[in-house]
Amino acid sequence: MRILVSENNIQRRVGELAALINRDYAGRRLLVLGILKGSLIFLADLVRRIRVPLRYEVVVISSYRDGTEPGAVDFYGELPQAEPDEAILVVEDIIDTGQTMSKLRRWLDAHYNRSVGLCVMLDKQGRRNNVVELDYVGFTLETNDFLVGYGLDYAGGMRNLPFIAALEEGETE
Ligand code: IMP
Ligand code: MG
Repeated sequence: MRILVSENNIQRRVGELAALINRDYAGRRLLVLGILKGSLIFLADLVRRIRVPLRYEVVVISSYRDGTEPGAVDFYGELPQAEPDEAILVVEDIIDTGQTMSKLRRWLDAHYNRSVGLCVMLDKQGRRNNVVELDYVGFTLETNDFLVGYGLDYAGGMRNLPFIAALEEGETE
């Protein structure tokens, strides 16, 4: 595999995102909604750097990937209720085609009577086919590579790598 974003660069960027969020949501209360399983590690790092009072909840979304190709999207469980004074911020690992996020957006819009912020670690723009508006982006990559690490998996593994890497030929069989 080829490392695209080092552990140091990830941690520095998480700090910068938290600083933006602290500024934008100053004086508010946050409901941070993590999309599992991919965002688990990003969520854990990010919330520990946010200084605005918050609670976090999680929902599980599976996009059934046949190896590295996108497939159907499944949502599990229910979206949590938000208190009237809570601002909602969704935390996701990666946007690829945008299919998952545009479905999630519809689900969020149907459920919440307010705008919902969206924070993603990686915006992988190589094969986007759904328009998705992102409020906070860790890294934008023009690549089509399949990425692993920092929560991203290949066939369930490699989520625990502390960096973000591209799989190379021969590694995806
Ligand atoms: P999308 O629906 O094509 O935008 O893909 C969204 C979901 O697919 C993400 O939430 C990830 O779970 C997964 N995914 C997309 N690209 C990658 C990748 O490069 N590595 C690992 N998982 C990915
Ligand atoms: Mg995901």
